[in-house]
Amino acid sequence: MRQYRCWAEIDLDALRENLAWIRHRVGPNVKIMTVVKADAYGHGLKQIAALLMQSGTDVFGVANLAEAQAIRSVGRGWPILMLGACLPFEAETAVREDVMATVSTYDEARRFSEAASRLGRPADIHIKVDTGMGRLGATPHEVLDLWKRLEGLPGLRIRGFYTHFASAEDDPSFTRAQKLRFRRLLAKAPHQSLDYLHANNSAALLFEQDTHLNTVRPGLLVYGILPEGNRRIRSELQHQVRPALSWKCRVSLVKEITRGTALSYGRSFVAPRPMRVATLTAGYGDGYLRAGSNRARVLIGGEYCRVLGRITMDQTIIDVSRLPQVQSGDEAVLIGRQGSRQITVNQLAGWCRTIPWEILTAITARVPRIYTGSQAS
Ligand SMILES: Cc1ncc(COP(=O)(O)O)c(C=O)c1O
Repeated sequence: MRQYRCWAEIDLDALRENLAWIRHRVGPNVKIMTVVKADAYGHGLKQIAALLMQSGTDVFGVANLAEAQAIRSVGRGWPILMLGACLPFEAETAVREDVMATVSTYDEARRFSEAASRLGRPADIHIKVDTGMGRLGATPHEVLDLWKRLEGLPGLRIRGFYTHFASAEDDPSFTRAQKLRFRRLLAKAPHQSLDYLHANNSAALLFEQDTHLNTVRPGLLVYGILPEGNRRIRSELQHQVRPALSWKCRVSLVKEITRGTALSYGRSFVAPRPMRVATLTAGYGDGYLRAGSNRARVLIGGEYCRVLGRITMDQTIIDVSRLPQVQSGDEAVLIGRQGSRQITVNQLAGWCRTIPWEILTAITARVPRIYTGSQAS
C-alpha cells in the first residue's frame, strides 16, 4: 500500500466468512437479503455485490434504482428489493429492470400496475407495514385492507410483506411491541405463498431470533460490525464476525511545539506543555468526521495517539509526544488493527458522537478502496 495517502482496505475473506456465519445462524431455510445501500456501507457496491453473489446471498436490499442497476451490471438474476419509496417517475424503470419495490400506499401500487400494463411484464412489490418506525409503510390498521385492494390491480405481484424495527439494538420492549403488531397482522394476512416475509435487521437477527420469518435483512453484520445493544450477546458474538474494512492514512509532517501553541482552526487546543505533534493525510474531506476533533484516537507505531484541535478538510493533527521515532510516511490507522491494538468503527462512532453506519458511509470517494483476501483481483 506504499503509494496511497489515505485509503481503505477491504478484506473480502472477512465478508465471505461473515455471510457464512449469518447463514449458519439463521439456518438453510431462511433467505438472506444483504443490504448494500450507500455503496455497500462505503465498502464499494460492485465489488461487494460480486463477492456476495459468489458467497450465497439470496437477494439484495438497496436504497434506489441506481444501486440496483449497479448490481445488475455485475451479475444478472439476483432478486433486488428497493427499500426506499419509488418516486412516481421511477416506477416504470423499476418494473422494466425487474426491481422489487416497497409499497406503502394504493397510489404507489397503482403506478406500478400501470407501468406493468404499459410494459407487458409483471411488477413485483413488497407491502410494507409501519409497526413503529414511523417512516415508510401502511399503518397496521389499514394494511390488510390495502393488501386486498392491491390483489385486484392488474400486473401487480405481491412477493413480500415486511416491517422495520426502530430500536432493535437497544429497546427490547419496544421491539417486542413491534413484533406483536406484526405477528397479529401475519395471523390475518394471506402470506403463506409469499417468497419474502421479513423484519430482522442486524440487531434483530442477533437479539430477536423468533422473527427471522423466511428472510432476514442484515447490513452492518455483513460488514463484520456488531450493533450496540445486549452486552451478553455481543460479547458472545464478537469473535464470530470480523470487520472487513480498515482505514489508513500517513504521517505527513512531524514537529515539536512549545507550551501555549494553539493548533488548527478555531485554536480549540492549546498545548499545556512542549509536545511532539504529527500531521496526518486525512480530514473531513475524506470522511474523517470533524465531530472527532479533540476526541478521536488513531494508531501509530501500535500506540493510541489523540487528535488535537479541529480536524480539517485534508489534514488532522495528532499527539505523538510518546513516539520519538515517528516520521513522515509512517502509516496511521483510523479504523482497524495495528500491532496488538485496534480501533473499531463503534469506537470511532463513539468519539464522533454518532453511529457506525454514519462512520462507514461518510468515507468519501476520494479514499481508494483496496481489496484484499483470496478473492481480490
Ligand atoms: C429497511 C432496512 N432494512 C435493513 C437495514 C439493515 O440494517 P442494519 O445495517 O442495521 O443491519 C436497513 C438499514 O438501514 C434498512 O433501512
